Amino acid sequence: MATSLPALSRWILLLMGLLSGPLPAEDIEFSCSLWGCKEFQRSAELWAADKGQRVAPYEVGYLADNLLGLYRQVLNAHSNEFDLLLIDTIWPGALGKHLLDLRPYVDEQRLATYFQPILDNLTDTQGRLIALPLFADTGILYYRQDLLDRYGFAVPKTWAELEATAEAILEREQNPRLAGFVWQGRAYEGLTCNALEWIASHGGGTIVDRQGQITINNPQARQALHRARAWIGTISPPEVLDETEMDSIQRFRAGEAIFMRNWMEYWAHLEEADSPVRGRVGLAPLPKGGAEGQHAATLGDMSLAVSRYSEHPEAAVALLLFLTDAPSQRRHALERSFPPTLKALYTDPVLIEERGYMAVFQQVLEHSVARPSQVTGLAYPKVSKKFYTKVHEILSGALAVSPALTTLEAELQQIRQRSAW
Ligand code: GLC
Repeated sequence: MATSLPALSRWILLLMGLLSGPLPAEDIEFSCSLWGCKEFQRSAELWAADKGQRVAPYEVGYLADNLLGLYRQVLNAHSNEFDLLLIDTIWPGALGKHLLDLRPYVDEQRLATYFQPILDNLTDTQGRLIALPLFADTGILYYRQDLLDRYGFAVPKTWAELEATAEAILEREQNPRLAGFVWQGRAYEGLTCNALEWIASHGGGTIVDRQGQITINNPQARQALHRARAWIGTISPPEVLDETEMDSIQRFRAGEAIFMRNWMEYWAHLEEADSPVRGRVGLAPLPKGGAEGQHAATLGDMSLAVSRYSEHPEAAVALLLFLTDAPSQRRHALERSFPPTLKALYTDPVLIEERGYMAVFQQVLEHSVARPSQVTGLAYPKVSKKFYTKVHEILSGALAVSPALTTLEAELQQIRQRSAW
């Protein structure tokens, strides 16, 4: 875990020390991710000013695995340290029992405005709604429109086209700093998201299917992983095996990659006033795994939840309802590129005009794939870790694809037996 709890506590104390005067009882703290903190903090401050409350946001980094570790440590200890938590789409199973049921606070009319599959994912088997969606997200293909135009290439629709286009442009540009395709290859949750897209796009399933059957050891999954391994050292620099979302965005923003797989929410970074690639970037669905394949985009929506151990649950719920409502989501989409989780905002004329990405995003959503977190529940973090560790070993050349998937299948069976999903 990158952030140790004592260090975090000190940080919070320091932050609280900066607030003037004694803390009123209703001061609430909320976690926000490094990349979205400023926007969510600004919104929280609007609410606090209006309601006479005070909020103490703290950044929790951006690596999903670290954040889950931190939450587990705090929540398993029933600590009241967090009021409002930023929750990844894959965590309802792992964290649900520590989170307040929001159903008594949200009326049906409001619930009906959100995308139903996201709400379903946030509802546990007892019908408790443990979070409300803050923003939607999926993996998407970013490409350099100017480079494609310079050499007369179309946007690739299959992985084979992406490989051929990247190779041809690299050959012609002769720029040692330019990479063909960057993505998230470090052994962490981000690699699970990338590898799921490769495999699902080849028709190789979702590791574990909706009925709980382990499906990973199949010919299409093998084909997808063979393909990805061949990218290393050709269209993708070996460093991608240690890179995360932020590394990819830095490379691509600096003009050092032709194609990038990343989340929709990062688009705003590329369009900042000082971005070297501003106005030169296009968006498209991630490629299909061949004529028989399909587009596939891993779902990565983020939600807000209230800790059951919060000392200010009413205020925390009120802030949650504010941050996830239509005006806030509209602001987060307009000021950055956090895709809304409310259906109506996709027909908002100003958003359509100013945020052209929303049309592509909606198209991509049609091909979205969920990680198997709902069916595996509490065991999901273990399933994902086994998966990304194995995939990382394959990509780095330490393991051959077929035996690796056979071993992975057996290891997942063991987890399944122990956790009885
Ligand atoms: C993004 C997604 C999240 C995913 C993570 C992986 O934060 O929103 O769902 O788990 O990336 O790195």
